[in-house]
Amino acid sequence: MSIMVTGGAGYIGAHVVRLLQERGEDVVVVDDLSTGREDRVGDATLVELDVAGGDAQQLLEQVMREREVTGVVHFAARKQVGESVARPAWYFQQNVTGLANVVAAMEAVGADRLIFSSSAAVYGMPDVEIVTEDTDPRPINPYGETKLVGEWLIADAGRAWGLRAASLRYFNVAGAGWPDLGDPAVLNLVPMVLDRLAKGERPKVFGEDYPTTDGTCIRDYIHVLDLAHAHLAALDHLAGGDGGNLVLNVGTGQGASVKEVITEIGRVSGLDVTPDVEERRAGDPPRLVASADRIAEVLGWQTRNGLPEIIESAWEAWQAGPRRIG
Ligand SMILES: NC(=O)c1ccc[n+]([C@@H]2O[C@H](COP(=O)([O-])OP(=O)(O)OC[C@H]3O[C@@H](n4cnc5c(N)ncnc54)[C@H](O)[C@@H]3O)[C@@H](O)[C@H]2O)c1
Repeated sequence: MSIMVTGGAGYIGAHVVRLLQERGEDVVVVDDLSTGREDRVGDATLVELDVAGGDAQQLLEQVMREREVTGVVHFAARKQVGESVARPAWYFQQNVTGLANVVAAMEAVGADRLIFSSSAAVYGMPDVEIVTEDTDPRPINPYGETKLVGEWLIADAGRAWGLRAASLRYFNVAGAGWPDLGDPAVLNLVPMVLDRLAKGERPKVFGEDYPTTDGTCIRDYIHVLDLAHAHLAALDHLAGGDGGNLVLNVGTGQGASVKEVITEIGRVSGLDVTPDVEERRAGDPPRLVASADRIAEVLGWQTRNGLPEIIESAWEAWQAGPRRIG
């Protein structure tokens, strides 16, 4: 019996693959390597396929049967907000059709445990201090919409044929569980700052006139290794026979501002991180912090690492990569 990890060659997926292997699980990774890398999956089997492709359902069924897959962790998706605004149909094809193919294949082979990578992007611009799972989801871009539609599809499959699932709404993921598994994409704040520093440029701050303590946006940063552990806790919870359709925030309940994160990068790296301040970007809520109460209650999971550990591990991983600074 094995666990299928779609998108297991990516940033977060590779952490889950490694944790599953460490505890002796048989893992099969399905990935088209569009943003993932083969060397991140260790000795797990890698099946190269596009989960959104025309023949994906059939191919997925075949792999699930051969490997006796009982549970799926579905990471494979596109995650760039700007790109989703420019190419909405393609985002729905990739993220929604991809998920639909996975769920249809699971139904066909009788695999009934699914963990889905959802996102805080489902909330859009919530007007609350702390976001709970009951906060009205109102995504403001196609990326967030594909995640919310994915959650709906999963709930429908639960009602229709008993799919047991957890949709995990990740907040701001950063750091590295191992130095070779850092975030390779320059999309989130920490890699963006490191990328600028590597080019000998100043970090950028978009807007310092928000209604927050230091005027910069506040986010909830979650260590990728803590996030990966949440997936294992969710898989175990569903294996224990507890069914239903869980929707859980994965965050820390603590916010850090853009300036605080940059200052921490300066402390850890010893570099001058004085930023250039630019105009606000459209669609950035001033504050997005999770309530992590429900996941603690349901899965008994909580974060172990704070901002210092996140930045230290991100720095170590960056320095272990090809663009070492200094
Ligand atoms: N990184 C974050 O901050 C964050 C936050 C919220 C949600 N998420 C979600 O978590 C998941 C993983 O994100 P990540 O940061 O590890 O991204 P990533 O790009 O590193 O990983 C995605 C993986 O999926 C693969 N993939 C993409 N489309 C595919 C397809 N059609 N068929 C097969 N494989 C495909 C890629 O090659 C890659 O290995 C995504 O669903 C993303 O939307 C990420």
